Amino acid sequence: ETNKQASSFYQNKHVLVTAGPTQEIVDPVRFFTNHSSGKMGYALAQMAESLGAKVTLVSGPTDLSQPPGVNVLPVQSAEDMYNTVLEHFDEADIVIKAAAVADYRPKQQYNHKMKKKEGSLVIEMERTRDILQALGEKKKEQYLVGFAAETNQAIEYGKDKLTRKNLDAIVINDVSQEGTGFSGDTNEVTFLSKRGIEKSLPLSSKTQIAQQVLTLIETDIKGGKS
Ligand code: CTP
Ligand code: CA
Repeated sequence: ETNKQASSFYQNKHVLVTAGPTQEIVDPVRFFTNHSSGKMGYALAQMAESLGAKVTLVSGPTDLSQPPGVNVLPVQSAEDMYNTVLEHFDEADIVIKAAAVADYRPKQQYNHKMKKKEGSLVIEMERTRDILQALGEKKKEQYLVGFAAETNQAIEYGKDKLTRKNLDAIVINDVSQEGTGFSGDTNEVTFLSKRGIEKSLPLSSKTQIAQQVLTLIETDIKGGKS
């Protein structure tokens, strides 16, 4: 019953999802990355597809197999992800930014492998562009969902990101707890929307969290309270 309602809502929607980590190259054999597995984003993409949406998944490097029926666009760096997401933003109705995008990248990329030397090494890092922030500034009709990975004061920091980045909703992830966040098969999140939904989703599989998040997005867009 719930699924049927959801599927008719998602049937004519184009959902753009980002997932996974980014890799920021130092030299041909080294890069900076993070612990994101991509599982949450892939679960969202797969669930949206099974609810009838047209789904584009912009994915950093992961070990996951391509969800059937989903248009997967692989990227490596934050800059690649920025370009690919911006290319597909106009055609999207709902954008969910589950990717763990690097905040910094090495200021220089070396074409040859760096050789070790005596003493310590300093690698200067520069900021990457904030993709979500750019989408928040550019958005027209799109419903924009961010993720927030926090280890402390999660709700407070999450709320701040919701307003600062001009989002419609944010999924707050406490990555410091057992069984939640980056690499496992389960998650526990709080969904906050600009229109006033505040719902904590207790520990469950990323598939179940994905389904609940998509239902909350639907409820929020339809103007209901949860
Ligand atoms: N994000 C992004 N581009 C970046 C950095 C982050 O699009 N260069 C997006 C992430 O995909 C996520 C949201 O911003 O949806 C929040 O990411 P998070 O790392 O929690 O927050 P930041 O804004 O990067 O702030 P900080 O890491 O300092 O908490
Ligand atoms: Ca960050």
